[in-house]
Amino acid sequence: MTFEPYPFEKLNTLLAPLTPNTALDASVLTIGEPQFETPAFIQEALCAHSSELKKYPKTAGEPYLNEAMRTFVSKRFGISLKSNELIPSFGTREVLFNFPQFLLHDVDDAQMAFTNPFYQIYEGAAIASRAKMHFLNLDEKNGFKPEVDEAVLATCDLVILNFPNNPTAACLSLDELGSWVKLALKHNFVLLNDECYSEIYTGVKPASLLEASIAVGNEDFSNVLVINSISKRSSAPGLRSGFIAGDAKILSAYMKYRTYIGAASPLPLQRAAAAAWLDEEHVATSREIYKRNFELAKEILGCETPEATFYIWLKVENAIELTKTLYSKYNVKVLPGEYLARTDENGENPGVGYIRIALVENEIKTKDALLRIKEALS
Ligand SMILES: Cc1ncc(COP(=O)(O)O)c(C=O)c1O
Repeated sequence: MTFEPYPFEKLNTLLAPLTPNTALDASVLTIGEPQFETPAFIQEALCAHSSELKKYPKTAGEPYLNEAMRTFVSKRFGISLKSNELIPSFGTREVLFNFPQFLLHDVDDAQMAFTNPFYQIYEGAAIASRAKMHFLNLDEKNGFKPEVDEAVLATCDLVILNFPNNPTAACLSLDELGSWVKLALKHNFVLLNDECYSEIYTGVKPASLLEASIAVGNEDFSNVLVINSISKRSSAPGLRSGFIAGDAKILSAYMKYRTYIGAASPLPLQRAAAAAWLDEEHVATSREIYKRNFELAKEILGCETPEATFYIWLKVENAIELTKTLYSKYNVKVLPGEYLARTDENGENPGVGYIRIALVENEIKTKDALLRIKEALS
């Protein structure tokens, strides 16, 4: 199987023959990149330690970074992790791509399941691991929550969930996550939840798979892992800071594998990341902005406010045509849902009929863009 072009490349190809309406300011609502300044204290920590560039960073990261991340987990989820239950990473994209390859490299007939639509790295990882892919479709019928087919799960070596979900914004409750932990233990597959959006919530705080693991009595996190990232939480995707946490036995073997990857984070970045993971105030400020954006989306487009993320997964009549119209007439870029999903063995692509709108701008720009989308829809 070959690697698919990235959704943004497909969008560029779709829009290339068109001319945008430049009488209006360009509004880019495609990429999940917060359009806000990284808080000053994070930038200052980076600058203050620039002289540490002269040193090679260690694969395991500095102990202070590991500790800062565990403090975050403890404050947010009430879980005291041991240092060998968490590995700092260079953002989470690299983990999502290379962890499956580590886990599956010597498995015959490797099988992997993940939510569909999805963050495209999961698919790339499956291709690189030569793993058979099973799609856990998220659609209106199942309330955007994955349905369980135990016969399929019994064949899987790795299952990736992503809740809070990009792009559908769906969340799973503690109990729902707990049933997935039980399935992972029953069928002996590794269960990883991508929790990159856990901090971008509008009300109730989304549960972590780690909490669910403890709740069902799996206190040493056997077969259970989560990843989390600073990119959305701290408006710092360029800082490249994330972690993988959970099953210490798997993480110990993965750590050995990671020494070969060369994705150790430069020391000044580790200093800045530690400062960011330890602070909560700046995250609360961002959450207010995203919450306000969702309120605007409700007022203007009538969308229900989701529990988390900054995405609107909008059901529309012809997503491709609408995407083209939005660009050519209104100078607004959105992403057709079908670029984020794949057709399953029953011929269904759960992304068809949707567009993803990333509400990552400030209130004024968001309002302006949403009004243009409303006009295009009517
Ligand atoms: C669902 C999901 N997982 C992971 C990532 C990767 O984030 P990072 O590598 O910045 O930690 C993203 C980025 O958009 C994402 O949407």
